[in-house]
Amino acid sequence: MQHHLTVRHGDIIEVSRRPADFCSGQGALWVNDLSPEFNEFFGSIINLDSPRHLQLRRIVAAAFTPRTLRRLDYDIQRTAAATVAAAALRGDIDIVADLAAPFPLTVICDLVGIPESHRASVQTVSNVIVSGGDPDFVPHQQDPVNAFLDAGASLADLATDLAEQRRRRPTDDLLTALVQAEVDGIHLTTREISSFFVLLAFAGQETTRNAISLGIWTLHNNRHARDAWVADFERMHPTAVDEILRYTTPVATMRRTATRDTTLNGHRLAKGDKILLFYAAANRDEQVFREPDRLDLTRAPNSHLAFGGPGPHFCLGAQLARAEIIAIFREAFRQLPELTITGEPEFLRSISVNGIKRLSARARPLP
Ligand code: HEM
Repeated sequence: MQHHLTVRHGDIIEVSRRPADFCSGQGALWVNDLSPEFNEFFGSIINLDSPRHLQLRRIVAAAFTPRTLRRLDYDIQRTAAATVAAAALRGDIDIVADLAAPFPLTVICDLVGIPESHRASVQTVSNVIVSGGDPDFVPHQQDPVNAFLDAGASLADLATDLAEQRRRRPTDDLLTALVQAEVDGIHLTTREISSFFVLLAFAGQETTRNAISLGIWTLHNNRHARDAWVADFERMHPTAVDEILRYTTPVATMRRTATRDTTLNGHRLAKGDKILLFYAAANRDEQVFREPDRLDLTRAPNSHLAFGGPGPHFCLGAQLARAEIIAIFREAFRQLPELTITGEPEFLRSISVNGIKRLSARARPLP
């Protein structure tokens, strides 16, 4: 068995469009194979193939209805305003701890229906899941694999409890929608709900957090682009948000497994070979993007692969993530026009996730 690294935009698109040849079911999230216990908690749609993937995706997509998201759209702007206002009061802040992390955490917890009392622990365990074993998040004495499993188990336990509560007493959150969702007479089992919840808790949170912190750092290093966006925010945000996603690529890699002997761009692959989709490289492919290393907030078209390639696993939360990024930048520019970065970022040590752990700044609010 060999590992192959796909770095070209066109090759990643082809792999994403051929799920029968390049499957996700043997693990899509990590570079290495993981033991079967992992599927207990991490076996949700991102690590499944059709027909089960399609069935489950239709059910969960039914819970992500425009109505649910419209209701949330209002909350997103209000939550962004409150997060930035709280950071403004602090003066000296950490961009990650005070802005980029709490905002998507609050949005996903509001959306899913996670009570206040559980939010800090949801953040701690999802940090472990996407840490890639970074020692800042995995305690020194603990084996990273056990740390992942413990984190998954604690999120799954919480989901099981909350799903039971929603069955007894429905509310208007995503968890209730998941409990009630039905496509062709099929409902999700409690186990399916809890592993989807685990997926949402980290996929819906850490990715957006890293897009925001890396976006702030990128704009700090590109003052002209930032100033132009501030001057014409509403007109530029549709292209600006996608350029930030291309430039920062918070999910650096995903994995596929060849289901048979096949070829890709003239290379031979054997059944069982692993293919790493290196989105971060594809998003700087000079055959597709003019001046790929330049941040151009007006870039259009912008066929970046930050949310994955065109295929059955394309990110379910792409629209929500875009709405969150736009909302937080709108508020940061409005309430903190003199936000000044005062340190160097500490980057996450992970092959799969591009992220920042800490970045200090001074937030001077409007007088
Ligand atoms: C900037 C933020 C985000 C980025 C960069 C991102 C990126 C990705 C990527 C690369 C994939 C995998 C595509 C593939 O395997 O082909 C994915 C899948 C997924 N994402 Fe996101 N994501 C983001 C935000 C979100 C949010 C906010 C949610 C939910 C609230 C979410 C939920 C999901 C789900 C459920 C999947 C699995 C879809 C499937 O397998 O059918 N993501 N995302």
